[in-house]
Parts: sequence; structure tokens; C-alpha cells
Amino acid sequence: MIMTEDAGVQVVRRATVVGAGTMGRGIAQVLAGAGIEVTLVDVSEAQLQQAQEDITQSLHRLVRRGAAPAGQPAEVLGRIRCTPHLDASIGPDLLVEAVVEDLPAKRAVFQQGASVLPETAILASNTSSISITTLAGAVPGPQRVAGMHFFNPVPVMSLVEIVRGERTSPGTVQTIVALAQRLGKSPVVVNDYPGFVSNRILLPMLNEAMFVLMEGVAGKEAIDEVMRLGMNHPMGPLQLADLIGLDVCLHILEVLHRDLGEDKYRPCPLLRRMVAAGLLGRKSGAGFYAYAGGRASDGTAP
Ligand SMILES: NC(=O)c1ccc[n+]([C@@H]2O[C@H](COP(=O)([O-])OP(=O)(O)OC[C@H]3O[C@@H](n4cnc5c(N)ncnc54)[C@H](O)[C@@H]3O)[C@@H](O)[C@H]2O)c1
Repeated sequence: MIMTEDAGVQVVRRATVVGAGTMGRGIAQVLAGAGIEVTLVDVSEAQLQQAQEDITQSLHRLVRRGAAPAGQPAEVLGRIRCTPHLDASIGPDLLVEAVVEDLPAKRAVFQQGASVLPETAILASNTSSISITTLAGAVPGPQRVAGMHFFNPVPVMSLVEIVRGERTSPGTVQTIVALAQRLGKSPVVVNDYPGFVSNRILLPMLNEAMFVLMEGVAGKEAIDEVMRLGMNHPMGPLQLADLIGLDVCLHILEVLHRDLGEDKYRPCPLLRRMVAAGLLGRKSGAGFYAYAGGRASDGTAP
């Protein structure tokens, strides 16, 4: 049977997170930190291994800073189960997908989720720009599909942009709002539109910084310094692009350019070249800056 009615507000006790990259591992950490049993799924065993190491380090950092009790890492890690198989999830109330920013990949995850998970499970996407309405159209029960857009690094950033698709039910929105509050986050509900609010405004600025660099107006450090010191931004746009991931930035700009149809969203050719060269930012060890162990080796990025 396919769920067609609004199931109302649900309490999330078990969740499946699909994609154990930059975002998925952070999402798994904060969900487990709030007492939720998490299954973390990734096609790559290496990513699952790396995710476990990163989450462990992140939890121990919190203990060292006095922000968490000594026993917490073991307790939280005990609630996260890693597997390459989505159908190994046990009865989750919620699936959050955080796979690559690619519509067919996300659609496939939702379709598989809809076929193996309970029909009442909410299907949430951490997409930065892909249409929630389009994703919802691919699964039975589109009223249970919404955007749950976390920010990077997930354990630190307080905003969760909650995206309401054309057919998302009020119960689904309220369930995700309540969950975000339970995670200690600040939810803001917006309507489905390319780039939503956050990336519709942010990405043109990052893209413009790349054009400024490509056109030789200033070097990378000068561009970042102007925006940090002059605009009071906590980090410069090129540093932020490296943190987000240059492939992710390119995907978002392509969606904005295609779906809004305006040249102001045209991805900078320098960005295309860097992504083609495998310079993806922090996660690949080099982007606009070089990184060693996640930190800028030239000391410029935070
Ligand atoms: N990086 C950011 O700052 C940021 C911020 C907000 C939202 N997002 C969004 O979050 C999503 C993930 O971004 P990321 O930066 O974590 O990417 P990432 O490249 O770090 O990780 C993606 C992960 O998905 C896995 N994957 C790919 N296809 C899969 C599948 N079919 N099943 C299971 N796992 C699969 C990959 O192996 C990889 O581990 C994207 O939609 C992105 O737009 C990213």
C-alpha cells in the first residue's frame, strides 16, 4: 500500500543517511548525537571507513573543548551502523540523502528507498539546488518528500533550510522542523525554487570571486582578505568554495544557470577547469589553496 494521506507530525527514532561524504557523515553524527539510531550508507567502503574516522575525531574534539562528556563519543558511535546496502536499514522513520549533486543519482536513491523502507518514512534530500518537486515526482507518496538542507560543517552550523516542494505535506514539514530543533539547529522553511534561498544568493558571489581571480584583478589571498575584512565575512569566498567542494559549487551553478536561464549564473571557466583537473578543494587536498590534513598548508584558510 502506498501512503497517500498526511501522516502528521512524527517523532524520528531511526534514520538512514545515504552518502557518507562531507555532509552525510556530519548529518549522521548530529542525528546520533540526538539519540537517533542511524544507518549510514555509501557505495564506497573507503568513504564509510573515512566517515567513521572523521566522526570519531569530531566527537573527541568536542570532549577536549569541554562541550561534551568523556563517555559521549562511544555512546554516539554505538548508534551509527555503516553499510554499503540501503536495504540493510531497519525500519527508519526518515531517510536523508546526501549523495552527489546529480538528479539521476538522487532519484535512484529515493526510488530504492521508497521500495525498501516503510511507506511512512519521510524522504529528505540534503540537495543544494535540485528541485524537491522533481525528486518527489519520482516516488510513490510525494507528500513525504522535502528538502533538509544542512550546512558545512554540519556539527557546527546552526541553519537547516527546509524546502517545501509542491506536494510536500504540512506534517512532513512539521516533522522535519521538530527534528531540526531537536538537533539544536535553527530551521527556516522556504519554497522549492532553484538554489532555494541560500545558494541562489551565495553561489553567484563565489562564482564572481572566481571570475575576479581569473581576470587577474587580484590574487586569491587579496580577494579573500577584501571580503573578510571589508564585509566582515568569517572566511573569504575562495576559502569557502574550497570548503564546500568545487565540484559541488559547479553542480549548483549549472542548476541555477539551466533552471533560471540567466547568464549571471554561468559557471566561471576557471571553476570548470579546476574540477576537470580534480582540484576539488579541501576534500581532495587542493583547490584554490593547498591542504594538508584538512587545513590550509599555506596557513591562509581557516
Ligand atoms: N559540501 C557542502 O558544503 C554541502 C553543503 C550543503 C549541501 N551539500 C549537498 O550535499 C550533498 C552531498 O555533498 P557532499 O559535499 O557531502 O559530497 P561528497 O562528494 O563529499 O560525498 C558524496 C558521497 O555520496 C556517495 N554516493 C554517491 N552515489 C551514491 C549512492 N548511489 N548511494 C550511496 N552513496 C553514494 C559517494 O561515495 C560520496 O561518499 C550534495 O547534494 C551537495 O550539494 C553540500
